[in-house]
Amino acid sequence: MADSKNLWGGRFTGESDPGFAVFNNSFGFDRRLFEADVQGSIAYCKALATAGVIDNEEAETIQRGLLTILTNSKSSPDYFDQIPAEDVHSFVESRLIALAGDTGRKLHTGRSRNDQVATDLRLWLRKAIDDLNNRLRDTQTALLDFAEANKEVAIPGYTHLQPAQPVLLAHWCLAYFEMLIRDQDRLTETRRRVNILPLGSAALAGTSFLIDREMLARELGFEGVSRNSLDAVSDRDFCVEFLSACSLVMVHLSRLAEDIIVYSTSEFGFFELSDAVATGSSLMPQKKNPDSMELVRGKAGRVFGDLQGLLTTLKGLPLAYNKDMQEDKEAVFDSFDTVNACLQVTTTVLNNIRLDLKRAHTAAISGYMNATELADYLVRKGIPFREAHEIVGRAVVHGIKLGVELDGLSLADLQSFSPLISEDVYQALSLEQTLKAKSQAGGTAPEQVRKAIVFARDKLNTDPQAEEP
Ligand code: ARG
Repeated sequence: MADSKNLWGGRFTGESDPGFAVFNNSFGFDRRLFEADVQGSIAYCKALATAGVIDNEEAETIQRGLLTILTNSKSSPDYFDQIPAEDVHSFVESRLIALAGDTGRKLHTGRSRNDQVATDLRLWLRKAIDDLNNRLRDTQTALLDFAEANKEVAIPGYTHLQPAQPVLLAHWCLAYFEMLIRDQDRLTETRRRVNILPLGSAALAGTSFLIDREMLARELGFEGVSRNSLDAVSDRDFCVEFLSACSLVMVHLSRLAEDIIVYSTSEFGFFELSDAVATGSSLMPQKKNPDSMELVRGKAGRVFGDLQGLLTTLKGLPLAYNKDMQEDKEAVFDSFDTVNACLQVTTTVLNNIRLDLKRAHTAAISGYMNATELADYLVRKGIPFREAHEIVGRAVVHGIKLGVELDGLSLADLQSFSPLISEDVYQALSLEQTLKAKSQAGGTAPEQVRKAIVFARDKLNTDPQAEEP
């Protein structure tokens, strides 16, 4: 069957070993580049016509054929399984030849699958980055909504997972909001380097035909054309950058997931996950497990693996193209799918999370988290900080012995540690004052957090939704 013949038959007299063919073929996964491949081919066909390699009629036949292929792919669900193919490029070409006959055979003039696959992947990634930026924005919106709906609520802030100082829940939400801003920046920065056209580099040395690469770039929405053909067909640093940006998204989501998992335990109890994103135990009837967040945390590993894998694949390759590079796609697709799904699930978790106000408040005023406040109070009364630290440390031991918080100690008790302590200490130790005191930019004082919320809302409203060309 002419359709299933591979693209490089002339040099060969023997057949491919069936096991090797399966091993070699990438159509099982690179079919995801189908639309990009057709889009790139339509533009390339125009460039061939402009160069005078094909005439206008041939160009029209080829373009019509490519558009038909696109339409047919949408109307028949098994379209990609109807004929065997080595990869998406040979699939499209054989489909075209079936429709356009010998004219279709002219499309690959001056082009190689090496510049073609690099072009397809860049087109695909450009859209993938836009998608992820939109998903990131959804998660940011969920974080901000949660923050805004609970502006007054305090929770413990931790270091070493030991209660440290109280913070506003909104401050905690906005910490993750900030991380996701940087994730978007990184993806957008990566997109700039993705958006360069390799087509016209042919196999490695450049094309011998008068292909107007600038025109091709404009046609396909690329910012510019690659400057070196060897580099253009053989580097995949843009994929590595993408995987690296994805890895950092996963670091952030994984930490958020971990916080939510911990805060949803009965020991902490600030949050309860919605039934919609939790599971039960087949054995223990009381259980409500945060599987959604555990999977987000767990899936970070595969994205890091994709990054590590591709770095390793690339490091020893001689210039220019080598088949090793076919390994880039599964890493990129897998990371995209994983990050995309993790962002969506995280957004759903946040949009449906229940906050236990009482547990949060109790925790925020427990654990001697106002000890630093007492030291600062003594500093304001003229005691050097190091000495104040020592005094408060002793007061904490006393409190632990009596089973009360610092502000549960009587004035006489407190004064036994320093005669400079007076009645106003209780005001200084209150949760309200503890929070209010962190009033410099970036602190958790309510007035600062209010500003941060305004900034965040503003950012969501003014940053344009990522465009999908
Ligand atoms: N499927 C190949 C890839 O993903 C396409 C490029 C093949 N080029 C070649 N000269 N064999 O890398």
